Amino acid sequence: MKQIHTIPALRAFRKQASHPIAFVPTMGALHIGHAALLDHARKLVGNRGTVIVSIFVNPTQFGPNEDYLKYPRTPDEDLALCRQHHADAAFLPDVASIYEPDASTYVEETSLSAGFCGASRPGHFRGVATVVVKLFNLIQPDFAIFGEKDWQQLTIIRRVVRDLFLPIRIEAVPTVREPDGLACSSRNRYLSPSERAAAPAIYKALSETAALAANGETSTAILRNHLLNLLNAIPNASTDYAEIADEQTLQVPDHILRPARALVAVRFPSARLIDNFPILPPQSHSRHSSP
Ligand code: PAF
Repeated sequence: MKQIHTIPALRAFRKQASHPIAFVPTMGALHIGHAALLDHARKLVGNRGTVIVSIFVNPTQFGPNEDYLKYPRTPDEDLALCRQHHADAAFLPDVASIYEPDASTYVEETSLSAGFCGASRPGHFRGVATVVVKLFNLIQPDFAIFGEKDWQQLTIIRRVVRDLFLPIRIEAVPTVREPDGLACSSRNRYLSPSERAAAPAIYKALSETAALAANGETSTAILRNHLLNLLNAIPNASTDYAEIADEQTLQVPDHILRPARALVAVRFPSARLIDNFPILPPQSHSRHSSP
């Protein structure tokens, strides 16, 4: 696997790379969720295609009081995981290569970004969209792979790609979970032992809410209250948001008539965790359950 640190070296690699090219953007601190993205990338392009992973802790997607400085940086372990999962190249630029000191151009999606994490973390999705488009322009992949764990991010990237006519197919990979249901996240390593023990209750709350919908409940208010009550009972945690939204538009309907997602953010003293889960309208449950 080639390690690439500069834009000229990336361009040179890109020029001779065999197609198709699949790109996995990451901020490092890689875990089995990222391994699933790399495996999906390899499956898409086969042994003849090229898989490029980026490892870049993007400063513009962190707020002033957020964890940019303490975000885990584990380049040696990250590179080992990329090698194990058959990436062809890892791009690890420094901040100065991605952002000129007087950079003044940003990419901003203005609708899907407004609520949920966009409301709790102003500017976050502008930073994400900007760095992702910069990386897309540099790498010019045929496919880019994102995790469903960051559902709002995924919908925003799809919208940006559509609106800016970027010739890239966005592929989504289901959330990878620990055996107790906790969604894999680089920030799980911040959790204290007692927070880690409490955190699987997020998944439990989401799956119980999905079960209520599967049993015929379509009222978003009832489903949301159920979810909120379960989340509010998690010891030593506060609910940042809990909503049931249309899976594509992220609008909150009165009733679940189309596939929706329960979207949550829960704040423990050591880490803020996000997760989401499909909430399906009653007819799709019967469709799914019929042979
Ligand atoms: O999901 C992430 O790890 C980041 O938001 C991304 C897409 C790599 C952009 O920095």
